[in-house]
Amino acid sequence: MAQTSSITIRRLDGRLKKELRIRAAKHGRSMEDEVRTILRAAADIEQADAAAAIQRIAEPGGDVEPEAPPRRRAKELTVRPTRVLLIIGGGIAAYKSLDLIRRLQDGGMRVRAILTDAAQHFVTPLAAGALCGERAHTDLFDPQSEFDVGHIRLARDADLVVVAPATADLIARMAGGHADDLAAAALLATDRPILIAPAMNPRMWAAKATQRNLAQLVADGVRIVGPNSGAMAERGEAGIGRMAEPVEIVAAVAAMTHGAGPLAGKRVLVTSGPTSEPIDPVRVIANRSSGKQGHAIAAAAAAAGADVVLVSGPVNLPDPPSLSVVRVETAQQMLAAVEKALPVDVAIFAAAVADWRPRRVSESKIKKQPGGAPVLDLVENPDILSTIAHRSSDRPRLVIGFAAETDRVVANAKAKLAKKGCDWILANDVSPGTGIMGGDTNTVHLVTASGVESWPPQSKDDVARALVERIAAALEEAKQ
Ligand code: C5P
Repeated sequence: MAQTSSITIRRLDGRLKKELRIRAAKHGRSMEDEVRTILRAAADIEQADAAAAIQRIAEPGGDVEPEAPPRRRAKELTVRPTRVLLIIGGGIAAYKSLDLIRRLQDGGMRVRAILTDAAQHFVTPLAAGALCGERAHTDLFDPQSEFDVGHIRLARDADLVVVAPATADLIARMAGGHADDLAAAALLATDRPILIAPAMNPRMWAAKATQRNLAQLVADGVRIVGPNSGAMAERGEAGIGRMAEPVEIVAAVAAMTHGAGPLAGKRVLVTSGPTSEPIDPVRVIANRSSGKQGHAIAAAAAAAGADVVLVSGPVNLPDPPSLSVVRVETAQQMLAAVEKALPVDVAIFAAAVADWRPRRVSESKIKKQPGGAPVLDLVENPDILSTIAHRSSDRPRLVIGFAAETDRVVANAKAKLAKKGCDWILANDVSPGTGIMGGDTNTVHLVTASGVESWPPQSKDDVARALVERIAAALEEAKQ
């Protein structure tokens, strides 16, 4: 590694070397150590090479401490999420593309954005960049960049290119094979599947030239989603020309990438959310689980190509794209839905299942009594994880549980692994101060028969992606 670092430093030009020196001094590290930190981050985000990572971080405003990646073995780094290059054209619908970035990410994808000049009249590169987690690209010849991230790299480092909104002009330039700005050049340079979401005035959509250009794009293998009909931004105008909604675009992307990821051909079951155990027609025993972690895992598994069944208790979350969702209320319903979904290759039990339920559910609302509060007679719910892990037939190859603990997190998780008969446990501290319950970040420890691995605090989406990578690697290893 030391050798790699010094070679990389030697090859840097003066400006970058200076940036690196300042950055290293700021963090109290040697230049080599700084490069190592950047390389580690670069390996985690699977960027093409260290030079590009150094260049990105050396950009003005790019002096951000890279998040420590979860510890993984080299082999597992071969599995990565779908990378989408999103080209935002200049139309009023561009504002929806910001929502699209989020939704693609919710589907477990990584997004890079290019904005045309016209797009920048509607949304800013800053907003798109902030959502993507990296600078949005705008110029074919970027004077800020001495390295050429360039249209070829942008085109090559994507698995799929999405153009949204695809304006009449952008469609015409695509059909004509133009390369006069970064968006057009990247589109011409890519050999990856392209999906366009046209958006324009209905008359422009109906124009012979636009239809001719579209026919050319279809013949070239470009996929199209929308446009929908409805009211236009111009007052009084209506007809076909509204950009497809972000959820429709995500569904089209998912359909194009389906069967292509590291979990392609695998069936994955995920339980998520709380269960809700009725006391009477209006009262329930519930818990604070938001379902965010379970839903993120289901989305990440679907994005990795798996056929996913998500069995969810009552949550306030949208259904992740491209998977089947079975909604349940009680633990007993959850168990029945899980058993119905078998056989599966992998089962992940992220739901916070109520341990007990009222023995009897009152048919009418229990009234206040002069004699005092009613006593709830509780019976234990079935342990879904343990039931499935102990099955003699149709046991999933990999059974994964969660352990939400408030003390002795790892010790309790180890005991749970043995007691429940599962293969892995993801343990987390849900003490009130952690904010994990209902929050967007999570700190987990992966407990397996071979040991404990503590992952750094990261978003629930990143935990989900890291877990999916682990699962894909484990299934791959089992094949060998
Ligand atoms: O015993 P505890 O509730 O801490 O176990 C947590 C793990 O067991 C989670 O994976 C949870 O989804 C699962 N579980 C279950 N059925 C229950 C209780 C917990 O599947 N009745």
